[in-house]
Amino acid sequence: MPKIIFRTCSGLVETNAVVGDTLLEVARKNNISLFAGCNGASACGTCQVYIVPDFLPKLKEPSTQESELLEVIAASKSNSRLACQIVITEELDGMMVTIP
Ligand code: FES
Repeated sequence: MPKIIFRTCSGLVETNAVVGDTLLEVARKNNISLFAGCNGASACGTCQVYIVPDFLPKLKEPSTQESELLEVIAASKSNSRLACQIVITEELDGMMVTIP
């Protein structure tokens, strides 16, 4: 199981993720507070997270819909992604994710 580390307002939380789950599902299964206004439909942008830059090339490219959302949401950075659109793979073992 790939380890995913979340940086939350209360500190680091290490999780064991299931391959095939989304990052949003990993957060929910581990009781990590991550708002998701559209419940994973890639329509709201509220599940924005910051990915440690080393892991960005290991993620699937964002869809046009995700890219357009990331362009308009507040506090978006070059390493922003939507947690509901990231699917966990073995390659993501050790990835650090910051919740804004
Ligand atoms: S939950 Fe709405 S875009 Fe991810």
